[in-house]
Amino acid sequence: MKPLTRESLVLRDREDPLAARRDLFQLTEGEIYLDGNSLGVLVKSVMPRMVHAIGHEWGRGLIRSWNDADWYPAPLRVGGTIARLIGAQTHEVVVCDSTSVNLFKVLGAALRMRPGRRVIIGEQGNFPTDMYVAASVAELMNAELRCVAPDDVEKAIEQAGDQLAVVTLTEVNYKTGRLYDMARITAAAHRAGGLVAWDLAHSAGTLPVQLNACDADFAVGCGYKYLNGGPGAPAFVFVAERHLAGLRQPIAGWHGHARPFEFTPDYEAHPGIDRMLVGTASQLGLIALEEALTAFDGVDMQQLRAKGIALGDLFIALVDQELGGHGFGLASPRDGAVRGSQVALTHENGYAIMQALIARGVIGDFRAPNILRFGFAALYVRHVDIWDAVAVLRDVMQTRAWDSPAFMARKAVT
Ligand SMILES: Cc1ncc(COP(=O)(O)O)c(C=O)c1O
Repeated sequence: MKPLTRESLVLRDREDPLAARRDLFQLTEGEIYLDGNSLGVLVKSVMPRMVHAIGHEWGRGLIRSWNDADWYPAPLRVGGTIARLIGAQTHEVVVCDSTSVNLFKVLGAALRMRPGRRVIIGEQGNFPTDMYVAASVAELMNAELRCVAPDDVEKAIEQAGDQLAVVTLTEVNYKTGRLYDMARITAAAHRAGGLVAWDLAHSAGTLPVQLNACDADFAVGCGYKYLNGGPGAPAFVFVAERHLAGLRQPIAGWHGHARPFEFTPDYEAHPGIDRMLVGTASQLGLIALEEALTAFDGVDMQQLRAKGIALGDLFIALVDQELGGHGFGLASPRDGAVRGSQVALTHENGYAIMQALIARGVIGDFRAPNILRFGFAALYVRHVDIWDAVAVLRDVMQTRAWDSPAFMARKAVT
């Protein structure tokens, strides 16, 4: 195969149908941002929207803005916008709380829907919050959590059989980027009479997720990663329409009530997806997320996915071409079809190497014990950025720039 050149990648960017989207984002000249899988880049129009929301809607409108500025229906409205990105109907998604809290709600609801069944199946390498939440739900509801290796999930479902209540998995693994076959796992769980809750933290806004086509039961996901909602943006939760009536989630709060402003002493769940709400919405976070989502207006998710795969493939090919002999391993699948929009490299000096990269304006992140993680948000990352990032990485390795005490001290957030 002919070696890749920077010029060929400049050409690819010229032909990229998504290239113009990059202008919507506030990117810093001289920096390459490969961490949109952790915290997405600011969409420029969010700034004036927030100035208005704070100065006018909050500053002047105050309490009136719940009605006059349409604050009250925002969780449902923003959920409806996310629904298009994840293959759901608008009335099946609502934005609220954090992904961890939403997972607690859906797992509690799922166990209540399967009385007499005790087993929750999870994945050993899942993001820790998913395992912690599943373990707490198991303890509270007298269930048993079985965490297994990714390749053993289907076997575990079969073994659990008529004891299976719910399977909880993250579609794209936060470290390796490995992608589950959502339709296949969901079908296997359903054959056993169980339910599935998908965490879409690393899928929403980068894969053409098809929740309803896969017959998914529940899903949760973050607003601050590929959806670019900002630090701590509210999360979303999906419940398939067929499960909404009668669903009992475990945190009954006044915003999930059928008529919150009647202030009745007894709880009566809202008939729709609003029953997943608990308390007052984080309104500024919702407004920022809603505005950020305009960057997806009219985007063909298949096209976005194709570019995400191409960027990951390119990164792996350039690491092979330019970084042989420097001790890197690949922790992600080589096959782009079973990988999300991120690539993980392993290296024994991974933390220091990532710090050296960040000091030179190539921003990725580090996940213990030895993973350098690079995310490729296809709305704003160019092919040429991948070339430039790998060139910086090669220089950091060749000059041993990483081998400095300044890059060894661990920060609180890695
Ligand atoms: C797979 C996964 N789930 C959940 C979370 C955290 O969600 P939250 O902090 O919104 O509860 C993360 C954060 O990185 C994640 O990667």
